[in-house]
Amino acid sequence: MSHTKWMKRAISLASLGNNTTSPNPRVGAVILDKDGNLISEGFHYKAGMPHAEAMAFINLKKDAKGGSMYVNLEPCCHQGKTPPCVDKIISSGIKKVYISIQDPDKRVSGKGIKLLKKAGIQIHLGLCRKESLDLNKAFIHRNITKKSFGVLKWAMSMDGRIGLKNGKSKWITNVESRSLVHSSRAEFDAIIIGGNTLREDNPLLTTRGFKNPEPLRVVFTKSLNLPSKSNLWDCSKAKTIVIYDSSTANEKYLTRIPKCVEVVKVSSDNPELISKILAKRGCNKVLWECGPRLATAAIQSNCIQEIITFIAPKILGGENSMNPFGDFKFEEMHEILKLSNAQVSLIGNDIRVKSTLKN
Ligand SMILES: NC(=O)c1ccc[n+]([C@@H]2O[C@H](COP(=O)([O-])OP(=O)(O)OC[C@H]3O[C@@H](n4cnc5c(N)ncnc54)[C@H](OP(=O)(O)O)[C@@H]3O)[C@@H](O)[C@H]2O)c1
Repeated sequence: MSHTKWMKRAISLASLGNNTTSPNPRVGAVILDKDGNLISEGFHYKAGMPHAEAMAFINLKKDAKGGSMYVNLEPCCHQGKTPPCVDKIISSGIKKVYISIQDPDKRVSGKGIKLLKKAGIQIHLGLCRKESLDLNKAFIHRNITKKSFGVLKWAMSMDGRIGLKNGKSKWITNVESRSLVHSSRAEFDAIIIGGNTLREDNPLLTTRGFKNPEPLRVVFTKSLNLPSKSNLWDCSKAKTIVIYDSSTANEKYLTRIPKCVEVVKVSSDNPELISKILAKRGCNKVLWECGPRLATAAIQSNCIQEIITFIAPKILGGENSMNPFGDFKFEEMHEILKLSNAQVSLIGNDIRVKSTLKN
């Protein structure tokens, strides 16, 4: 029972790094002395800063000899930006280590545990496994698939419309929902839109100061026909990358993009390419805030793992009003997309539903 309590404490410490640890995982560590008293704790805040275990040793109030450690992810055994944590644990004289899950990186997975065991330390693996997998699902997804964990968000009316047929859509949701969208962007390493959303909405795509630096802003375009004036070209607020499909783009439009914006060429319009590029840059979790066409393509290429839908108590009507998606070309009901784990909350009088998409 108390083992679970201490592991839950480690997980809750780990979550203090929710918006800051990427590309690293969220990790927390707790140290008890040989009599079971809490003598230290720590969490990983940011890449390049001490790991959770190292922080716990920095914060140590008493000798850890004969004591135990609770940590939600297997301690590292390689020299990265900081020294290996297993060495510190071994030299501290700690006798038992409770680890929730193994490191998902196949090259190191299990090696940290092996070294600790070899040094005579008792290892207990698997405590609060479900919670730890959930906490680091984006990090794990990126390590295993080499793609960023994608969340698709859209706002719609009660009749499932995201805008009028003339493209007007400001505003479907209430002010509280919009401000929640701004602050929740802080959980993400990058925010992605398509060229058409840039042209139609000219969004800022920032957290409005909730995160510093702001998430990377990404525009995916097939045509490169982007305006020469855009909020995304103001690099003093956040970094922007334009990714374009060189098989369809007209490169004469490159002159419209200011020098501070990074431009990346890809060979097709498959959204998977974006997900892979962002994963390579260390983006664990990315938010797709695109319109129906790119959203449909992103789902079709397995770039979306979770969905956030805001539903406003409004009716837009109109056969030709905008839908959140294009045609998936389903012919049978068993082909349709299924969502699970729905979490529903009220934001003023809007409804927000968070759900998981089965890939
Ligand atoms: N209510 C909401 O939550 C919400 C959210 C976002 C957008 N919107 C609305 O949606 C409308 C835009 O819709 P949209 O579907 O055109 O969105 P979009 O987000 O601009 O995506 C489509 C654009 O993405 C680029 N693209 C790159 N690869 C693609 C691919 N494989 N498939 C499709 N597009 C690809 C193209 O840009 P290029 O044309 O530059 O080549 C294409 O025009 C706007 O009116 C906006 O207001 C609503």
